[in-house]
Amino acid sequence: MSEQVVGGKSFTAVAINCAAKAGEWIKTKLGNHTSLSLKYSAQDLVTEVDKGAETMIRNLVMTHFPQHSFLGEEGVQPGPEASTKALQSVRDAEYLWIVDPLDGTTNFVHSFPFFSVSIALAHKGEVIVGVVYDPIRDELFVAEKGKGAYVRGRRMGVSAEETLRDSLIATGFPADQQYALPLNMKGLQALVPQVRNIRSGGSAALHMAYVASGRLSGFWEIGLNSWDLAAGSLLITESGGRVTDVKGSPYDLGVRHVAASNGHIHDEFVQALQQAESGS
Ligand code: IPD
Ligand code: CA
Ligand code: CA
Ligand code: CA
Repeated sequence: MSEQVVGGKSFTAVAINCAAKAGEWIKTKLGNHTSLSLKYSAQDLVTEVDKGAETMIRNLVMTHFPQHSFLGEEGVQPGPEASTKALQSVRDAEYLWIVDPLDGTTNFVHSFPFFSVSIALAHKGEVIVGVVYDPIRDELFVAEKGKGAYVRGRRMGVSAEETLRDSLIATGFPADQQYALPLNMKGLQALVPQVRNIRSGGSAALHMAYVASGRLSGFWEIGLNSWDLAAGSLLITESGGRVTDVKGSPYDLGVRHVAASNGHIHDEFVQALQQAESGS
């Protein structure tokens, strides 16, 4: 893809630079954020650090690629309708940066050391670069379309489990208590007895990166947004895994109810989630 280098800077280099700079700054703010407010619900938190990290990333991206479009969580009104609308308005852009400046705000607020910066670049709706950075472990996950995925500079691959029985699965508990949370709880109740165990770390982007790197066999969550999933989706597919919605339809930027896995367990995983939803 010849356009991947513009003005001497590759898209991936800029994405990595943004994630590293924002992540390092977020780490310096751990335990000393000064403002905390609520967004969509009492469980949907935002701090000045979320906003500051997004501004930092946006400014850096725009310096290098002023013609590109930008979709960041903190630039969008809270709630599922507003985020769907915001994505619709830019999803056909030639180049679109999709950014979650701090994925795992609740963890950050409580100094629970599991959060990330997630940055994706989509070309006409298809993710071509995905970067997830964990500043606490200084772990950088990077994927380029067609070129594989790497963690700490080493090629990543998904895990080998073939059945749910042998699988370690992650999920999250969405802030939307009307629709997303009850549906996720149905899945949780159905899956706990069927799998080896379930984890909930509190950063969807890191859960995706952990599926890509073989540390988790699968991840599902209801009610996510494009900025939670875009970078991780490429990490997983470039590592040999599968990403769909919970009904098994292929991933695109509009997917909010995600099922991601090492690929081997995918059909069984999606079937179990569907059975949980329909109550059968
Ligand atoms: C949240 C995290 C969390 C997930 C929530 C997301 P945020 O993102 O990814 O793990 O369960 O559904 O909203 O708000 O911390 O960027
Ligand atoms: Ca948030
Ligand atoms: Ca997020
Ligand atoms: Ca966020």
